[in-house]
Amino acid sequence: MKLKHILLAGIMTASFANADDVMKQSMAAMQNGMTQVQQGFLNNDVKSIREGIKLIKEGNAKFSDKKVIKQYLPADKKHMINVAENQARRIALDATVLELNLDDKAYVNASNAYADIMNACSRCHAIVRSW
Ligand code: HEC
Repeated sequence: MKLKHILLAGIMTASFANADDVMKQSMAAMQNGMTQVQQGFLNNDVKSIREGIKLIKEGNAKFSDKKVIKQYLPADKKHMINVAENQARRIALDATVLELNLDDKAYVNASNAYADIMNACSRCHAIVRSW
């Protein structure tokens, strides 16, 4: 193999490994965020809900780009990219709705927004995992 090819292969491996990290970081942040939000609702701890939402927003921002998401869809599901991307948008919107409802002390509406985030997670996972 020529040096050029070895370098190219190295760069490609590095960029794939990197993209993999983005998914893992994003999902781990959102998972922690969802847990904190749930604990917050169950224990009436608004601060925990707010911290959880922040994590969800950060994690979701890392996994909202169409190009990034598409890499993780199975070959026979690539045509579902718009549906998948919409779930990331839905999470961003729900997170804002949740915060606004917290500001208004509208806790039932806030918890509905939380439930809708969970549904959005499942909607994308259903595509990725071929449920
Ligand atoms: C746009 C698509 C998409 C959305 C939305 C999404 N995920 Fe994921 N998620 C993935 C992909 C792709 C994987 C990796 C493949 C797999 O685990 O089946 C994944 C895997 C995971 C994993 C396992 C991670 C690992 O290291 O194996 C967790 C936990 C997770 N997601 C949490 C969440 C949570 C919580 C939400 C909602 C707040 C969410 N995801 C929303 C696409 C998504």
